Amino acid sequence: MNTTADLSKQFQHKKYPAGRSSPKATIIPIASGKGGVGKSVLTANLAIALARQGHDTLAVDLDLGGSNLHSYLGLSNKHSGIGDFLKDRKKNLPELIVSTKIPKLRFLAGDGRTPFMANIPFQQRLLLLNELQKVKARFILLDLGAGSTFNTLNFFGLSHYGMIITTFESPAIMNMLTFLKNFMFRLIAAVCKQNSIIFKGLIEEFRRPVNGVPVTVASLLAKISKEDKNLAQTIRQICLAYSPRLVFNMAENIADLDIGAKIARILRENMSLSVSFCGCVGFDNAVRSSIRQRMPIILSRPDSFPARDIMALSRYISSGRYDSPRIKTAKELRDEVSRRQNSL
Ligand SMILES: Nc1ncnc2c1ncn2[C@@H]1O[C@H](COP(=O)(O)OP(=O)(O)OP(=O)(O)O)[C@@H](O)[C@H]1O
Ligand SMILES: [Mg+2]
Repeated sequence: MNTTADLSKQFQHKKYPAGRSSPKATIIPIASGKGGVGKSVLTANLAIALARQGHDTLAVDLDLGGSNLHSYLGLSNKHSGIGDFLKDRKKNLPELIVSTKIPKLRFLAGDGRTPFMANIPFQQRLLLLNELQKVKARFILLDLGAGSTFNTLNFFGLSHYGMIITTFESPAIMNMLTFLKNFMFRLIAAVCKQNSIIFKGLIEEFRRPVNGVPVTVASLLAKISKEDKNLAQTIRQICLAYSPRLVFNMAENIADLDIGAKIARILRENMSLSVSFCGCVGFDNAVRSSIRQRMPIILSRPDSFPARDIMALSRYISSGRYDSPRIKTAKELRDEVSRRQNSL
């Protein structure tokens, strides 16, 4: 972590309010922690749903090293994308954006061919982050890779309200919590970078064996506060601005949603994060067949549970409530899902 130059630049959001790339665009990075939980399925179908509601939408494949969003959208793999942009600076990023057969939906390909693309260096990442923030669209959805690579953490930090996907299985929930913990620690490290003594202390704290008391955002802030009260206060304010939007995927039973309250408590107590529960997508084997047929489920089976749930999520996003500071509690989500199911 300490070899990376000026981390703080990567977390700057001074120009526009949370998650906005311009007064009009809302950037939604979609992350998970664990792989295979449905990020690409949700990115593709959500992007289509938003475009079909009449919003200019851009779906970006930022799973560099494992790019496959094109196939979830039913597109061929022939487009140059972010990998080519990073290798060949002569092209600018907007030139690589292609339109799709769905009106209002555009696509920016990633890179699955260049080795080690998942670990792009700092300067390239900064260039990419800046270019992405200039793109004009109403919604920009970013399909991220699994895990907590610096790439993914920084792309997630493009918005105060990044979306995080989990299934109900404990490894997926644990990895999601680890992802958010890494995100918060990296954010804190970025802010502390200017103060070398505090920064060194943080790195030691991160490297401490985990058999003792676990490191939490609160414990880090208490340590920083001993050295510099004002810095601790600034970090607290910055951390408070982040509120991940949690989406459960592959739900089979409404009782699964009871785990939400526990997740909210862990995030509040260990990471000083307030989570908003913004969606729940049902399990249906039709998702698998839709991927095989390269026909997004929202188009091929609009009557299925996952398609209806993704439509509900897209309406929530386009209503403006997704990126408002108002948080949807786990109980509100449970009530909403139960109402939706009863009305079918
Ligand atoms: N709601 C759902 N119902 C049933 N199956 C689903 C659902 N959502 C996703 N799947 C299945 O999960 C698999 C993984 O989904 P997807 O590729 O979107 O995950 P991912 O998080 O993008 O994975 P990776 O981390 O590898 O990029 C899909 O192939 C699909 O079969
Ligand atoms: Mg994926």
